[in-house]
Amino acid sequence: MNLGKAPAAPVYDDDPVRGFALAAVLWGVVGMLVGVFIAAQLAWPELGFGIPWLGYGRLRPLHTNAVIFAFGGCALFATSYHVVQRTCQAPLFAPLLARFTFWGWQAVIVAAAVSLPLGYTQGKEYAELEWPIDILIALVWVAYAIVFFGTVGRRRVRHIYVANWFFGAFILAVALLHIVNSAAIPAGFMKSYSAYAGVQDAMIQWWYGHNAVGFFLTAGFLGMMYYYIPKQAERPVYSYRLSIVHFWALIFTYMWAGPHHLHYTALPDWAQSIGMIFSLILLAPSWGGMINGVMTLSGAWHKLRDDPILKFLIVSLSFYGMSTFEGPMMSIKTVNALSHYTDWTVGHVHSGALGWVGLISMGSLYHLIPRMYGQTRMHSVRAIELHFWIATIGIVLYIAAMWIAGVMQGLMWRAVNPDGTLVYSFVESVKATYPFYVVRFIGGLLYLAGMLVMAWNVIRTVLQGRVEAVPVPAVPSAAAA
Ligand code: HEM
Ligand code: HEM
Repeated sequence: MNLGKAPAAPVYDDDPVRGFALAAVLWGVVGMLVGVFIAAQLAWPELGFGIPWLGYGRLRPLHTNAVIFAFGGCALFATSYHVVQRTCQAPLFAPLLARFTFWGWQAVIVAAAVSLPLGYTQGKEYAELEWPIDILIALVWVAYAIVFFGTVGRRRVRHIYVANWFFGAFILAVALLHIVNSAAIPAGFMKSYSAYAGVQDAMIQWWYGHNAVGFFLTAGFLGMMYYYIPKQAERPVYSYRLSIVHFWALIFTYMWAGPHHLHYTALPDWAQSIGMIFSLILLAPSWGGMINGVMTLSGAWHKLRDDPILKFLIVSLSFYGMSTFEGPMMSIKTVNALSHYTDWTVGHVHSGALGWVGLISMGSLYHLIPRMYGQTRMHSVRAIELHFWIATIGIVLYIAAMWIAGVMQGLMWRAVNPDGTLVYSFVESVKATYPFYVVRFIGGLLYLAGMLVMAWNVIRTVLQGRVEAVPVPAVPSAAAA
């Protein structure tokens, strides 16, 4: 790997792709390890050992930042840089800036890994990092936008393939969300106060939070879906027309759904209802996209039997379908009255995070990594199959445990005696949850074990491969390369 200087044209500039792909695997292991540790802490709280930086409150944001921005983020950088070059048949625009995005993003991750356990936080979920790190994120992101859109601008085919629309929307929306939500007044190095107050602060935070789901955890991964599923299945996208409708409907609707995170709060009731209605509408484009991805396999279903990479990609879509059905249901106020504050939300999050984001990233990386090292497949296909099964069993254990625990907690908290007193104390609900926390820990451990199998397989593939310059085709062809 050469992340120091840019290669001469006209070959594809794949060094940043390689760097981000390997970083995604590394940060995946780290982020999931922290996830398993905090899952263990919820079952066995003494695991904090009284050490402040091992406390649950500090490690939880470390987990969410590591899995979303380090693992998911690096996978998104790697795949978007790969897809945009191949589908535009042009090398990356501004190669030095592309290298800056790699080193800058790694610096953000290390700064997060140090500052969060030390207790520095802005206290906004998924936007915890303090203002100096926020500024670095903004710089990296602007550089990312220049590299990505610059490459689209120098494309040698007229058409902009749909995957690039999704990656492009993800890049633009995340820039907007990050810059608006992170506006703060510094009050010293690593200390700041939000520029917004009261309910406006909450609304901006959850406009950010929900669109972080919509654009960071969804749109970019749909970009992966639209490139890697057709590639791996060797079939064209089921309906190109549907993919365009899918794109516009999804990005328009997501922006309005944020208030469903603030049901029954000081946010005006009409705003909560708008959030609920747009969340219900969101079911349609989400399922349209899922169906488009799954149906790409029409006529090639038999490939699912012996291709574990396709299993990753297609099963990820079934989890996407599940979580985008569940989410709209949870946004209905009466349902949210039961689910909010319970582990049902955590189950919903991880059916999306482990099932959709995790599996689609792993499947795409299994397709991408060998090709970045002059090979057609990973070192061990059986290890991919093994990874698929232990990860899937892990997800099922995790989310089933959280669903049961969540509904149980909701029902216990609202149960009242005829005289109006509560049937259960809060502590009784915590005690009843204990076995489910142990099952979730086991599920998480399995998912992490799968990730370790992947890391081993990736190391073997890289060691036996070689870095080759891939020439940009001399005559551009209309088909996505
Ligand atoms: C080995 C795998 C994983 C384990 C064991 C795990 C475990 C956990 C635990 C214990 C929590 C805290 C729940 C609570 O506060 O009650 C959590 C929160 C969270 N995790 Fe994971 N996690 C894993 C993987 C992932 C991945 C891959 C992602 C994203 C791509 C993810 C995203 C999140 C998010 C967004 C939250 C916050 C949920 C909320 O606020 O409702 N996790 N995780
Ligand atoms: C149609 C799509 C979706 C809708 C309408 C939706 C709706 C919801 C609702 C109503 C909540 C609970 C809010 C609360 O009670 O606090 C929630 C939480 C959450 N959802 Fe979704 N969801 C969708 C898809 C997804 C997907 C695909 C993912 C992950 C990849 C995801 C990740 C999350 C996260 C991380 C939270 C927890 C936020 C927090 O409190 O920290 N959602 N979602």
